[in-house]
Amino acid sequence: MQFQKKTVLITGASSGIGRACAHAFAREGAHLILTARSSDGLRTVVEEVGEAQCTLIPADLTDSRSLLTFVNRVTTEVSKIDIVVNNAGVGLYAPLLAAKYETVRTMITLNFLAPVELTRRLLPLIPRGGAVVNISSIAGKVPLPWFTLYSASKSAINAFSDGLRMELDRFGIHVLCVCPGYVNTSFRDNSLGYEIPDQVATRKHFVVTSEQCAEATIEGLRLAKKTVVVPKIGWILAALTRILPGIVFWYMTKINNSLPSINRR
Ligand SMILES: NC(=O)c1ccc[n+]([C@@H]2O[C@H](COP(=O)([O-])OP(=O)(O)OC[C@H]3O[C@@H](n4cnc5c(N)ncnc54)[C@H](OP(=O)(O)O)[C@@H]3O)[C@@H](O)[C@H]2O)c1
Repeated sequence: MQFQKKTVLITGASSGIGRACAHAFAREGAHLILTARSSDGLRTVVEEVGEAQCTLIPADLTDSRSLLTFVNRVTTEVSKIDIVVNNAGVGLYAPLLAAKYETVRTMITLNFLAPVELTRRLLPLIPRGGAVVNISSIAGKVPLPWFTLYSASKSAINAFSDGLRMELDRFGIHVLCVCPGYVNTSFRDNSLGYEIPDQVATRKHFVVTSEQCAEATIEGLRLAKKTVVVPKIGWILAALTRILPGIVFWYMTKINNSLPSINRR
């Protein structure tokens, strides 16, 4: 896949992986449609990338009216979107007993329902040869007990990606699922609810940068991969979870049992 003169829509483009994707696709000569809630954050990215290459449309994707307004603006401004990158997402570090319904709903809406609805509404604009990219997480392949509900949202995105790829094959539209491990962004600071346990916060093995994630995404599209795991070593953990789930679940449970507990009553 070539990106020169292609139109690429990126959600969550104001920071982290989305911002790095904006830079990476711009370097390849793509025109960008960037969205996030923060107009200031988006404007900074536009200044970095170059105004001529960008259309900026702020939206809150947890708000169905805002999502619809966003889609309407996109469809009036462009007639074709070659690649949709569903990247906007938020973490939720909370054991089930501490997870408030509204917080879980916000997280599931942003991480799962928004990509589903956005993809559904934008599909008519994606031509043959186009692609949908879902930024998921290794947590969607390996459930992390201090991150159970977030893992569930990313597991849903993984299943959505696999099913959608089969659905869209007849239209010649590719679906790429990107599963990063620990990426050095503001993700942890922006996570919803509860405190991140020290034992988890200090576990920073195989940290990658948002730029590495963006490059892996571009490479994944070029090679028409179904799934990309960054760093690649994450495949070992994902494979182990499928082949020897007992060992991985025992190890994760052991880590979780060492975390502070909350009262069940
Ligand atoms: N960082 C990691 O370790 C890691 C690992 C695996 C997967 N991921 C996934 O990678 C994706 C990007 O995360 P990141 O690390 O780049 O985190 P980040 O720096 O916090 O970026 C999140 C992006 O989502 C946008 N966003 C948040 N709430 C939104 C809302 N309600 N409506 C629209 N946009 C919203 C934010 O912009 P505004 O605040 O301006 O709205 C921001 O641009 C997420 O899907 C995340 O789950 C991250």
